[in-house]
Amino acid sequence: MLAPVHAVLARTGLDAIALVPGANFLRVFGKDFHQMERPLVVVVPAKGDPVAIVPNLEMGSFEPLGFPGKIFDWRDEAGYMGAFKAAGAALPQLGKGTRVGVEGQRMRVFDFMALQSVLPGATLTDAHADISSIRLHKTAEELAALREAIRLSEIALEATVQQVRVGMTEKQVEAILLGELFKAGCDGLSFDPIVAAGDNAAKPHASARADYAIKRGDALLFDFGGRYRHFSADITRTFFVGEVSDHDRAFYDTVLAANSKGHEVSRPGITASDVDDAVCTVLEQSQFASFKRHKTGHGLGLDVHEAPQIMRGNQAKLEPGMVFTIEPGLYRDGETGVRIEDDVVVTENGIESLTSFPRELRIIG
Ligand code: GLY
Ligand code: MN
Ligand code: MN
Repeated sequence: MLAPVHAVLARTGLDAIALVPGANFLRVFGKDFHQMERPLVVVVPAKGDPVAIVPNLEMGSFEPLGFPGKIFDWRDEAGYMGAFKAAGAALPQLGKGTRVGVEGQRMRVFDFMALQSVLPGATLTDAHADISSIRLHKTAEELAALREAIRLSEIALEATVQQVRVGMTEKQVEAILLGELFKAGCDGLSFDPIVAAGDNAAKPHASARADYAIKRGDALLFDFGGRYRHFSADITRTFFVGEVSDHDRAFYDTVLAANSKGHEVSRPGITASDVDDAVCTVLEQSQFASFKRHKTGHGLGLDVHEAPQIMRGNQAKLEPGMVFTIEPGLYRDGETGVRIEDDVVVTENGIESLTSFPRELRIIG
C-alpha cells in the first residue's frame, strides 16, 4: 500500500511524507475522507513505522484500510492536539535537520501548524509535485474508469442539448444536465458544472444564473464532467442557440483550430510548453488574439486539475499514460465566450482522444 510513497521518499531523499485526504491519499489508501474542521494526517517516515492521526468518528472507515502503523484517534471533546503529540512522540527519527514533505496544495494551515508543533526539529517542506507524481501515469484500470466517466458524461450532454430551448434560464439547463449525468450512471460530479450563455460565457469559470433567459444567437457553454470510480471527466463544448452570426462563427472556428492543433502536435517526447505554444500561437496569430485568457490545459485523473500543466514554461515531456486536457478558449468580455475541451491520453506513438463528442459548431434549440 505504501510502496508508491516509499518510492518518492527514496527518489527525493525526504525523511518522511505527510498525507492529508485528497487525491494522493485516495491513490495510496483506496479511500478518501472529508477534509473539514477535523484534521486527519498520515505520516510515512523513510525509516520506521508510519503513524496516522484520525478523528474518532472516522475510525469505522479508517480501520478497514489495514493501515500498517500506529493510529492515534481523537474525539471532538478532547481536541486533536493530544493525538498529534502522541504521533510526534512515535516519530523520534524525525528530529533536528530532518525534512518532511507535505502536500502544499492540500494541507491546511492548521494541519501544518499542529504537525510542525510536534516535530519541532523537522522542516516541513512543500513536496506537492513529488508526492503527486504517483498519479502521473495512469494504469489500465484507471484509464478504464476515466473512459467510462467520459462516455457517461457525453451521453448526458447530448440528452441535455436536445432539451435546450430559447427562453430557458441557465439554472434550468444546469438542472437538466445534473439529472442526465446521474441518469446516465455517473457516481458523482467532477465539479459544479458551468452552464453559461451569452455574456456569461465570457467568464471562464461562470456560475449559472436563475435570472437570465437564453436568447436566440447566444453561445451556450457547458464545462462539466461526471465522476466514475473516483475518476473525473472534464469536457467543454460550446453551442449556439437558434442561430450564429458570421463573426461568432469565425470566433468559434479559431478556437476549434487551436484545439485541433493541440491534438495534432501532442505526442510522447514533446514538452508541455511546446504543446501550449503551438495551441496559443493559433489564437495569438488570429484576429481574436486579445481575447485569449488561459493556458491550453492540465492533467486529469483523481484530481480535475493535476500535473502535467500544459503551459508555456513547463519543460516536462509528455510520456505514455499521462492524461491531460486540450481546452483553448476565447472570451469577449460582456459579449460571449467559446471553449472547446477534450481529454486525451498519451500513447506510445501520439495521443488518443478520450472525448469523442463532435467539436464542429452546432446550432441547438
Ligand atoms: N478552464 C480553463 C482553466 O481553468 O484554465
Ligand atoms: Mn473543464
Ligand atoms: Mn479543464
